[in-house]
Amino acid sequence: MFKTLAFPDNFLWGSAVSAHQTEGNNTNSDWWEWEQKGGGKEPSKEACDFYNRYKEDISLVKKLNQNAFRLSIEWAKIEPEEGKFSSKETEHYKKVLEELKKNNIKTFVTLHHFTNPVWFTKKGGWLNPKSPQIFCNYAKYCQDNFSDLVDFWITINEPTVYAGQSYFFGLWPPQKRNVLKTAVAFINMIKTHNRCVSVLKKPAGIAHNVVRFDSATKYPWDNLLSKILNKFLADGVLFLCTKKQGFIGVNYYFQYKITNLRLSFDYSLGKTDMKWPVAPEGLYKVLINLKKYKKPLYITENGCADSKDAIRKLYIGCHLESVHRAIEAGADVKGYFHWSLMDNFEWHLGFKPRFGLIEIERENNLKRVVRPSARYYAKVCEKNLLLSQKSNLKSQILIPQIYGLNMWL
Ligand code: GCO
Repeated sequence: MFKTLAFPDNFLWGSAVSAHQTEGNNTNSDWWEWEQKGGGKEPSKEACDFYNRYKEDISLVKKLNQNAFRLSIEWAKIEPEEGKFSSKETEHYKKVLEELKKNNIKTFVTLHHFTNPVWFTKKGGWLNPKSPQIFCNYAKYCQDNFSDLVDFWITINEPTVYAGQSYFFGLWPPQKRNVLKTAVAFINMIKTHNRCVSVLKKPAGIAHNVVRFDSATKYPWDNLLSKILNKFLADGVLFLCTKKQGFIGVNYYFQYKITNLRLSFDYSLGKTDMKWPVAPEGLYKVLINLKKYKKPLYITENGCADSKDAIRKLYIGCHLESVHRAIEAGADVKGYFHWSLMDNFEWHLGFKPRFGLIEIERENNLKRVVRPSARYYAKVCEKNLLLSQKSNLKSQILIPQIYGLNMWL
């Protein structure tokens, strides 16, 4: 009745965080400055205090059988003034990375995860034509100081999301709504990525947010629109990325369906607290589409906001099943990072969305509490496999959601 889905040897199993969302006190950054002026739902303050509690958190990563971890270095902390690098912060990140190495955990280190030093934004931020050069100085510094402790670099996290939220939708600092500026910021980020790949001596890739679009009808116009959107948003970015990049990082959360040229969500498999649909089939299609780039693929983010931990196990199980199917169909997927290790600061939405395998009790001195789904994921990581029941997917998702049963190992 059960089917065993074994993953390839040396598959990397991990979880992901970013600096501003977890460390706390990112006082030299544009996000911090914006939060003090009332931007977003609430300020990030001490966040999860990962800055001081990293040892405890890394020991949890280890206990949960993860053999890889994705984190980011905070540019605003490392380079608080242009060209002046902080030795105190450099030492700090060395200690964090050493702690991971001591525990035999592979490190995926992101250089830019949505936040910028204030001095950089004063110079025009990502609209500045010199931004690639300015950022690559910082990347070179990181290469020179941390390279021994880094297994994989991620240059820029989600350039489409950053450019969209900051320059098109006006939701994030500097809150612009301008198509031209969106395009300029995006292009500068891609130029930066391409330039950084040559500066960094370990495999370096981008973390690209790929949303999937599929027609829900047989109408040719829905089919055409889904093709255009997938081409533009998934492939458009990757066609611009240098062929020299070592891998492609995929951040996948959900899929849209298209009916009569309208976008909507299909909630038949459930929904997360963000009202995003559970849509594992989209991940399979994304991975199959990326085969043509002939690069190793890492799922650098996938996860759900689920404060009650009601669907996270299922979410993980069905997405991993998609990953496994994609591998069997020839996609070179080499690792999976769950977003996130712990509940954290979800940008303009504040701390309310709970994405963590580990709960952070905000009213109880930021106490870490391991959720049941984390233990489930720990078993998958330990055994390098999952068990899947061969029934239709819909019942696999809905029954456990209702009865709390676990259909995966
Ligand atoms: C992103 C970011 C994360 C988010 C996560 C959930 O990819 O948007 O990397 O910072 O917290 O995606 O929305």
